[in-house]
Amino acid sequence: MPSSQTAFEARMREKAEQLKHKENVRILALETSCDETAAAVIENGRKILSNIVFSQIDLHALYGGVVPEIASRAHVEACDRVVDEAVSAAGIRLEDVDALAVTYGPGLVGALLTGVSCMKGLSYALDKPLIPVNHIEGHISANFLSHPDLKPPFLCLVVSGGHSHLVQVPDYGEYHLIGQTVDDAAGEAFDKAARVLSLPYPGGPRVDKLAEEGNPDYLHLPHPHVEGRYDYSFSGMKTAFLNACHTMEMKGEELPKADLAASFRKAVVDSLVEKAVLAAKETGTRQMAMAGGVSANRLLRRSMQEACDRMHMPLYMPEIHLCTDNGAMIGSAAYYRLLKGEVAPLTLNAVPGLRLV
Ligand code: KG4
Ligand code: ZN
Repeated sequence: MPSSQTAFEARMREKAEQLKHKENVRILALETSCDETAAAVIENGRKILSNIVFSQIDLHALYGGVVPEIASRAHVEACDRVVDEAVSAAGIRLEDVDALAVTYGPGLVGALLTGVSCMKGLSYALDKPLIPVNHIEGHISANFLSHPDLKPPFLCLVVSGGHSHLVQVPDYGEYHLIGQTVDDAAGEAFDKAARVLSLPYPGGPRVDKLAEEGNPDYLHLPHPHVEGRYDYSFSGMKTAFLNACHTMEMKGEELPKADLAASFRKAVVDSLVEKAVLAAKETGTRQMAMAGGVSANRLLRRSMQEACDRMHMPLYMPEIHLCTDNGAMIGSAAYYRLLKGEVAPLTLNAVPGLRLV
């Protein structure tokens, strides 16, 4: 390893060590794992000084889903601008930032690489430490921004486009995975259902909105049976849903879209809540949290609140705009990583399949 690289990394570790004792630590965080280029400045892991999200939805809508190559290119074009906007919206100068943070996985490799390269360059140019952040840890940490009083331990239902996890969070930055989907993620299932109903991308929020006007008892979908006590499965109900829709189409019947959306949403949400409640009861959980894009789902929020009320357990959910991908959640997670002394080496790479534990 070149000595200049070793010296830089040693200096960054030392700077990070000093930051542990600083009163107000400002972290500039960048998130580019999928189709949002997002940057934010976060103080002490809890306070949002700025949060800029540039969504690429319009670019991908034409294709009905995220096109990885288009996403990478769009991130390259937007990165600098979004970072500049986040810094100026925070009312500070780039030099005033104490540390940098970036999502390095999981996600699309080209998209992640754009953010990682951008922040490695900035770290070197500013001579400030860079903290690598797991995207899923970021989602969980969004709760620390919406609820400054929340402290671990808690149980978190993480539901996004790629994940349906039940995660115990005994302390900051510590995770025990106690349940997960054995096939599709909840968000993925919502997106597939949306496609059958000819709803435009991104499908999840559209199904949710349409479902508000529909009859959830219109179509009965099979309840999943999975071996793992706290595991999920959405592929069976998805296939049954697709088959029901195709059968109606073949008969020339018009799809009652609102009723179908409501039925599908109910099946997914019932299953999510049921396992989360079971896990909470059996593991001595005192506080429940939710995270990820699907935690913006209106029925899921209502149902989980009712379930937690019945258990006399507080429920923490990020505000809607912090449920989907953003830079603020990465800045929050980074703060707690920094307190543990974690700093990225200059060789930091994107890890598309990065796991939480
Ligand atoms: O967390 P996220 O922004 O990105 C990933 O890390 O995957 O989650 C995106 C997923 C998509 O599948 C999207 O359809 C789903 O979250 N989603 C929703 C809602 N809002 C976003 N699904 C159901 N209801 C919603 N309101
Ligand atoms: Zn996400």
